[in-house]
Amino acid sequence: MTKRMLKVLAGEAIWPPPAWLMRQAGRYLPEYRALRADAGGFLSLCLNPKLAAEITLQPIRRFGMDGAILFSDLPIVSYALGQDLHYAEGEGPVLTPIRTAADLAALRVERVAEAVAPVLETVQRVAAGVGDATLIGFTGGAFTVACYMVEGRGSREFAAARGMAYRDPALFGALIDLIVEGNLVYLRGQADAGAEALMLFDSWAGMLPPDEFRQWVIAPTARIAAALRETHPHIPLIGFPRLAGMLLGEYAAATGVQAVAMDTSMDPAAAARLVPATTALQGNLDPLAVVAGGEAMETAARKICETLRGRPHIFNLGHGIVPQTPPEHVGALLTAIRSL
Ligand code: CP3
Repeated sequence: MTKRMLKVLAGEAIWPPPAWLMRQAGRYLPEYRALRADAGGFLSLCLNPKLAAEITLQPIRRFGMDGAILFSDLPIVSYALGQDLHYAEGEGPVLTPIRTAADLAALRVERVAEAVAPVLETVQRVAAGVGDATLIGFTGGAFTVACYMVEGRGSREFAAARGMAYRDPALFGALIDLIVEGNLVYLRGQADAGAEALMLFDSWAGMLPPDEFRQWVIAPTARIAAALRETHPHIPLIGFPRLAGMLLGEYAAATGVQAVAMDTSMDPAAAARLVPATTALQGNLDPLAVVAGGEAMETAARKICETLRGRPHIFNLGHGIVPQTPPEHVGALLTAIRSL
């Protein structure tokens, strides 16, 4: 029997919609914090197949989501290309910035397969225990990964990265090309290890003006999607061009992804008009509504599902679960969706 989420990714509308939540494994869960405490750092956790597989499955056991997203992180591909990566306490990823052609020349796509081997072992372990949930592999969209690689850390503006794209588009373009190649090795490896769907998180896509969005978000995503269709035609791809706004429809049509994830600001009714009818929509409850819980959360979740009823739709949040979310609210949310 085809899994619920895979049916929707194949273009079928089902009711109630399947559901999973971005960042469903993580700090809001006491069982995650317990494992995290004795792993010796977040990167070691991502590269520890036994622990990472266990963390991937924790929310599935507790809440029974329809999708199990691989526990890993977005700049793993940068690390795999040879960039130095670490995590500062209470902060996101910190990398040695790539600013020159010489910095770029030190990175190697040939390293990727070996460097990501532990993550692929995690995928294999999860595949063995995932049950009826769909195993989702992922990486970062080329533009968002480039933002972290050039800037060296999270930022409100990513001014160094976006500045490089204007001043030296050949260098920025070469970095994007390298990330696309690295991502392809990584995503194909995940599919071969047992991932049943793949997702590209392009969290910073919405910072770009339309022409730059086409150049640095749509074009590299279209290349990844086309290359995956050649080798893995049965593996659906979900794109998340966060804050794409009106360009969501063009993104869906031009990339050929099987689903687009809507961020919190997207009106589901507008997305349904913008995006081709066979492309699935995923999303998009405000993560803060889950912190609040209760009637407000359930009403907002119901409204999203009812608006998209009759379309292929996977219920999710519009961005990741935040650490202060009470786990009981996540349970109540999934119960509300299942009882629609
Ligand atoms: O449950 C899941 O969704 C799977 C695992 C996952 C993580 N990060 C785990 C994580 C996924 C899919 C991501 C994606 C990711 N990582 C994105 C794209 C989505 C988004 O949020 O926009 C981005 C931009 C990153 C980079 C990143 N990693 C940041 C900015 C941070 C720090 C902020 C934060 O939330 O802690 C991380 C660290 C991180 N990634 C944690 C987890 C569980 C927290 C690490 C810890 O336990 O200390």
